[in-house]
Amino acid sequence: MTGRFVSFEGGEGSGKSTQLRRLAEKLAERGIEVVSTREPGGTVGADAIRELILTGDTDRWGVRAEALLMNAARADHVERLIRPALARGAWVISDRYADSTLVYQGVGGGLAEAPLRALHRVATDDLWPDLTLILDIAEAEGLARALARPGRELRFEAKGAAFHAAVRQGYRARAAAEPERCRLIDAGGSVDAVAARIWAAVEPLVG
Ligand code: TYD
Repeated sequence: MTGRFVSFEGGEGSGKSTQLRRLAEKLAERGIEVVSTREPGGTVGADAIRELILTGDTDRWGVRAEALLMNAARADHVERLIRPALARGAWVISDRYADSTLVYQGVGGGLAEAPLRALHRVATDDLWPDLTLILDIAEAEGLARALARPGRELRFEAKGAAFHAAVRQGYRARAAAEPERCRLIDAGGSVDAVAARIWAAVEPLVG
């Protein structure tokens, strides 16, 4: 018995967390065991690494150290939470996963894709989601939404418009490169409208 692994991806303020909750509720209504999680984080060890990554000055870490820390957190998350949950037949729904590293540290930060993929193999034994939902929203709109939220870690939000435009284009390129796994979801409009688009992509996976 193997569960399904679904990741949510997107830029700042794309509505991932809200939509993740909506999907988890919908699956639970169908009697499916759902494990909702997020990256960086998801386990005690990975949350400790998250604290290191997301606090402090924007230049606290260089992009290489950042990529290694993301992968260290992910290794713990996969080994201790994701794989055990999938093995018992649960669905795992993660707010961000490895595509975030390819896009933020790769496209945004300038690291090449091949070594990032090699790092991913070391960290996770090459575990990829069954389905990745990429929530696409104009970066100005997403950033405005993100900055309006209270209590945000500001390290990533401080990076500037060019960085966020690169992130959006990076995600669109991911969807084009891996259309089987990655679905580009229009994240504009009402929460209900976006949830319906997401359900249309997920429903075929429900056995
Ligand atoms: P978070 O506060 O969880 O924000 P969001 O709501 O945007 O998910 O912060 C996570 C930040 O970490 C986000 O700016 C993206 C970044 N990140 C990476 O740069 N690489 C990664 O591999 C992951 C998982 C996240």
